[in-house]
Amino acid sequence: MGRLRKFYGSMVGKKVVMGVTGLIGIGFVILHSLGNLLVFRGPEAINSYSHFLKSTGELLWTLRVVLFLAVILHVVAAIQLTRQSRAARPIGYTKREAQVATIASRTMRWGGALLLVFIVVHILHFTTGNIRPAGVFSREDVYANVVTSFRIWWVTLFYVVAMVALGLHLFHGAWSSVRSIGVSPPSPQPLHRRLSLVIAVFVWAAFTAVPVAVFSGIVR
Ligand code: HEM
Repeated sequence: MGRLRKFYGSMVGKKVVMGVTGLIGIGFVILHSLGNLLVFRGPEAINSYSHFLKSTGELLWTLRVVLFLAVILHVVAAIQLTRQSRAARPIGYTKREAQVATIASRTMRWGGALLLVFIVVHILHFTTGNIRPAGVFSREDVYANVVTSFRIWWVTLFYVVAMVALGLHLFHGAWSSVRSIGVSPPSPQPLHRRLSLVIAVFVWAAFTAVPVAVFSGIVR
């Protein structure tokens, strides 16, 4: 326990925690975005997929607990790392020229905060049904929940904006997570990140396709 605490107490330890929990999140969003594409196959396909997931009982709950802990650890480590690096340099750089900085890397904190808000709102919207923009919610008919919600322009807009934040977060995060856990050595060409680009674009496009298809009437 003492060793674990000492490891987590270091900046490297926190970065490893961020990397591992980030990879768990990446795995989840890839699977979730693929599952969502079943909307294009009609109500039967997505609703039976949803019923199947719910029928797995303990497995679903185990995954929920793992994901929940991963999100909490990821956020707590991010906040602590930010504080630690600010404390290490209370007076900022007079001239700051990052070696590798993209829109994605500069928006990790704000984009991450937006994603946290998104996840909470999203679960209240589609899982518990506490937020009902269309006034209706069904535990059995996920397809109906999706279609009635995304006919509303501000719901679609909220999801589309959040998915841009997710795409940027993934682009930088997928790349830096493998570096933080030491799987991949420092790159001689840090702007070459083909795999993280592929993951980010795929997940962004797959997620965004659903609200956009409903709003534009392709899926009804
Ligand atoms: C346009 C994008 C998205 C759409 C259309 C969407 C759709 C849905 C739907 C319909 C459900 C309910 C599934 C069911 O009850 O069977 C759901 C659950 C969920 N979604 Fe999403 N989702 C999107 C993006 C995301 C993102 C980006 C994340 C996380 C970063 C996420 C995390 C979750 C979680 C944690 C659940 C709850 C799973 C559970 O425990 O039952 N979703 N989503």
